[in-house]
Amino acid sequence: MLPTMVVQAILWILYGLLLQPEPGTATLPLLMDSVIQALAELEQKAPATEAGHTASAWLLSAQDSCAHNPLQHFLLEEQSLKTTMLDPPSLSPELQGLTMEVARHGVWDGKECGVVLASDGSTVAVEPLLAGLEAGLQGNRVVNLPLDSTDTPPDAGVTFPDFGATVPDVRATSPGLRDISSDVTWADVGAVSPNVRATDLDVQVTSPDVQASSADTKAKFPTTVDSLLVVTLARDLGLNFLQGPQTWSHSLGTEGCWDQLSLPRTFTLLDPEASTLTTAFLNGALDGALLGDYLSRSPEPRPPLSHLLSQYYGAGVAGDPGFRSNFRRQNGAALTPTPILTQQVWGALILLQRLEPAHPHLQGMSQEQLAQVATHATKEFTEAFLGCPAIHPRCRWGAAPYQGRPTPLQLPLGFLYVHHTYMPASPCTDFERCAADMRSMQRFHQYTRGWDDIGYSFVVGSDGYVYEGRGWHWVGAHTLGHNSRGFGVALIGNYTAELPAEAALRAVRDELPRCAVRAGFLRPGYALLGHRQLVRTDCPGDALFNQLRTWPHFDKVSPRRLHYLGLRPICPHKLSTAPDPCLFA
Ligand SMILES: *[C@@H]1O[C@H](CO)[C@@H](O)[C@H](O)[C@H]1NC(C)=O
Repeated sequence: MLPTMVVQAILWILYGLLLQPEPGTATLPLLMDSVIQALAELEQKAPATEAGHTASAWLLSAQDSCAHNPLQHFLLEEQSLKTTMLDPPSLSPELQGLTMEVARHGVWDGKECGVVLASDGSTVAVEPLLAGLEAGLQGNRVVNLPLDSTDTPPDAGVTFPDFGATVPDVRATSPGLRDISSDVTWADVGAVSPNVRATDLDVQVTSPDVQASSADTKAKFPTTVDSLLVVTLARDLGLNFLQGPQTWSHSLGTEGCWDQLSLPRTFTLLDPEASTLTTAFLNGALDGALLGDYLSRSPEPRPPLSHLLSQYYGAGVAGDPGFRSNFRRQNGAALTPTPILTQQVWGALILLQRLEPAHPHLQGMSQEQLAQVATHATKEFTEAFLGCPAIHPRCRWGAAPYQGRPTPLQLPLGFLYVHHTYMPASPCTDFERCAADMRSMQRFHQYTRGWDDIGYSFVVGSDGYVYEGRGWHWVGAHTLGHNSRGFGVALIGNYTAELPAEAALRAVRDELPRCAVRAGFLRPGYALLGHRQLVRTDCPGDALFNQLRTWPHFDKVSPRRLHYLGLRPICPHKLSTAPDPCLFA
């Protein structure tokens, strides 16, 4: 265990290195493990140096960084400015090259930079992750917004619609998050931004939870911002939705593909036109917010960041499997309820307007207009990202190409057919296993069955992820005679006698259909059926099927179901040559 000062110093050093404009000769793969390795090396070297002030001075003196992100600069700079620059502890050239490469998040020419591949298969932007860790080490401060007397907030407040996002509270069952007492430390904002007098700003010793409990859907003019949420998520959400309604429809959470999975070097976006709020950015921002929150509540001594990250991107923080990157959306939803996040986005925009009076999109915007932007940005983020399942695209699990020409679906469809894979019989609980299962099912469907591709539209693992099969746009081979009318979704495992993990059930019951309806792929009144209701098969297994019967969109009145209920499993290829992948072997 290291004292917070040292943990923080290490982070500042890493920041400092990120901002050194030296050419790097990177040879390390862009993996989260490489970032963890860099942190571990700094943790070994840093205690020997008195690096705390030095590293923060680098950050503060990096004009480049200030211009890039004045809000982050303002909220995170708190260390003394009086120290002069010293030499950073030297990282090995390899790690130095890596830090250069992940220095800044951005999208250029359809390539996303500053992102790494984590072992759960997700791609994560490093910059918002580090910002969150730093904010957390500083104690997750609540900062008063600077207000002019002429800027009296509207008394009635602004009414936000109630989005009614229902996101399960995974954190409630996470002892790692629940039981740690709030420990918000006093921090002194001594640093002065060019446009804001230090006396306009002060930092309260207030826990963000106090705000949270008093929030309702009638938002009041924000008088404070929470530094952690602003530097990770709220600033970018606000700025991205600021350009006007024409950009509002740009999809959030664009995915991309690595050039190779074992030694990833470049990441190409699947939709280069989409918003820069990519999946990787939002992943990094959520991870930064969640880990920053954890650090701010952790008693001294704080865990070294390299340990914290390897747990979070591994089996779970402090042995809690619910607190890991796989469940960042559910945990993030619990951390940032919609009304709170809306307030923070609004506050971030107000603060940014003050810090950057010449900002082209902020100039002349009234607080009401900023509130509208914040409301819309938060709604989109909550509905189109947080409340949706995390779907690994085909390239992530190493899919072989489609053979032949796919047939497009006529969207929206009216049905969702639920399957179990039967083989593999045991649920996969990590990315490596689930991705291998996907490849072996695809091989089986393509080479043994002779189909064009893996049959299912989507496959649900027990690792918290959904895996893209044929996806939303192409006719699958999952439910004989019904493939062009519905999506086929399979849960990996044999659910004859056992039920899938709750997260997997939730993905099929709630998240996937809700997001498909929102995106226009599925009709709002869609019907959900078990495979056995349409085809002679036991699929999706008795246990799972009995569960389906209790779900809201379950189609109880299918005559076929009555006809076929009770039949023993029959290997479909003996009946027909047409596709039916439910029985795998
Ligand atoms: C599936 O589960 C059932 C019930 O436990 C069992 O009888 C059957 O052998 C299993 N099938 C496979 C392929 O594991």
